Amino acid sequence: MKRIAVFTSGGDAPGMNACIRAVVRGAVYHGIEVFGIRRGYSGMINGDIFQMTSHSVSNIVQRGGTVLKSARSKEFMTPEGRKKAYDQLQKFGIEGLVAIGGNGTFTGATIFYDEYGIPTVGAPGTIDNDLYGTDYTIGYDTAVNTALEAIDKIRDTADSHDRVFFIEVMGRDSGYIAIQSGIAGGAEVVMVPEVLTPISEVVEVLKQGWHRQKSSSIIVVAEGDEEGNAAEVAEKIKEQIDINLDIRVTTLGHIQRGGIPTAYDRILASRLGLGALEGLMDGQKNVMAGVINNELVYTPFKDTIRLPKPINEDLLRMVKILSI
Ligand code: F6P
Repeated sequence: MKRIAVFTSGGDAPGMNACIRAVVRGAVYHGIEVFGIRRGYSGMINGDIFQMTSHSVSNIVQRGGTVLKSARSKEFMTPEGRKKAYDQLQKFGIEGLVAIGGNGTFTGATIFYDEYGIPTVGAPGTIDNDLYGTDYTIGYDTAVNTALEAIDKIRDTADSHDRVFFIEVMGRDSGYIAIQSGIAGGAEVVMVPEVLTPISEVVEVLKQGWHRQKSSSIIVVAEGDEEGNAAEVAEKIKEQIDINLDIRVTTLGHIQRGGIPTAYDRILASRLGLGALEGLMDGQKNVMAGVINNELVYTPFKDTIRLPKPINEDLLRMVKILSI
């Protein structure tokens, strides 16, 4: 393989830049020409493609966001859009792709390979940590730490005013950000989509705390929780509880997607970027590079996106024990 391209797609995640850097520098090291595609599949369709050098990725290892920018392309979901993308890749002589993104990115890459035979190797870039085939995704650790910093700050004001806070964290259909930020932030309850925590159970925890003169409580709610988002959960609690609690809701939102990547994310991203590139060079296709038990592994795209990644339920048990 003589010429490859790298792009980021879907929601951005801290550490994506470190991953791009590893792909580009790895390619230069191995004597392969490397191109960057701006705005993911949209840029592929529009031919927003440019040659990168070792210098193009100087001074980005520490930056959040993605220098290649990102997008969720509706046009790439159509056969016409994919044809345009293929024509552009042909024009630039690109033989293989490294895609940094999440499940939507990998689904697109699989269809594209079936139609046009352009191989893609993926690196998991998403704060949600919802991909099977890697213990952690790029950006997850930073997002957890960002959420945790916010929880710590909210705890200060919750304590000063004797309030109960419902804090909503991101994660789409996954509760990974919620469980780790909740445990580290000492939450009384963590509500995740993977395991239902009924409203009645939350009411019970709050009542017990109130009877023990607990003055403030933190409930972390994953945005995809079955009982609803944090505001909806808080409303249901107000309807069902018969004690007088001062309840507030905070939705952390996109703050969780930005910021300086942690050391963990930069190192993981570097490993996965180089791993994806070298996998592509070795003839791999339709697979994602991941790290499981500290080993670099490749998992077929279809398995990373189809299987719901299980959450460790023992962590939820721990929340219950530690919040008494
Ligand atoms: O997949 C990352 C993520 O931040 C999810 O946690 C969230 O549900 C979604 O993206 C938000 O998407 P958007 O930035 O398009 O609003």
